[in-house]
Amino acid sequence: PTLRIDVVSIFPEYLTPLRAALLGRAIDRGIISVDVHDLRDWTHDVHRGVDDSPYGGGPGMVMKPEVWGPCLDDVCPDDALLVVPTPAGVPFTQSMAEDLSRERHLVFACGRYEGIDQRVVDDAATRTRVLEVSIGDFVLIGGEVATIAMVEATVRLIDGVLGNAASHQQDSFSDGLLEGPSYTRPEVWRGLAVPAVLRSGDHAKIEKWRHEESLQRTRSRRPDLLPADEPGQPD
Ligand code: ADE
Repeated sequence: PTLRIDVVSIFPEYLTPLRAALLGRAIDRGIISVDVHDLRDWTHDVHRGVDDSPYGGGPGMVMKPEVWGPCLDDVCPDDALLVVPTPAGVPFTQSMAEDLSRERHLVFACGRYEGIDQRVVDDAATRTRVLEVSIGDFVLIGGEVATIAMVEATVRLIDGVLGNAASHQQDSFSDGLLEGPSYTRPEVWRGLAVPAVLRSGDHAKIEKWRHEESLQRTRSRRPDLLPADEPGQPD
């Protein structure tokens, strides 16, 4: 495969969407491989325990280094990129998805949100590249859904995965602005007409209109994305 993906989780069944739809088709066609591992396979005690209370006190549990360490020794070779989803990570962006799509082997280590003992990451970082990544300013129960989001954003950028190779070059964010609205048939639906310019056949005018719509939408929804010289910038 062009890209090999391994995912470690205590809820492996939660990652089944990775085998559905377009991702499943990319697996069937040999473009990517996806292997999901159950962290509990690396436990030794009868209770198959993976977490313990935090040093220093406080709520929640922290995932044990004696389980994660041997697991990553087995699953994450030195030349892979280890991605650890955490709300305390650096923000995931389209440009990070582009970087990940050029890797050969990604390993996602899904922990619960209170986290994995930091020494697991620090130890892995002595031999391999590690990224602690957040998919947004909200808190999920664990890293599984964040992993699905990052894998989907990454894999769709690989040649041959999407039907239309050019379609992702016009995405929201590829030019730094949000995409404007799209329309298909019929021309009038529930009394609402498709903007006339889109049916004009004047491609220069259509491009100009789309750019204006992108700017307007970005101004109202995401002023933080606008270049500094654009009106609508937050102070
Ligand atoms: N785990 C819990 N919340 C997360 C987030 N926002 N991003 C990545 N991983 C997470």
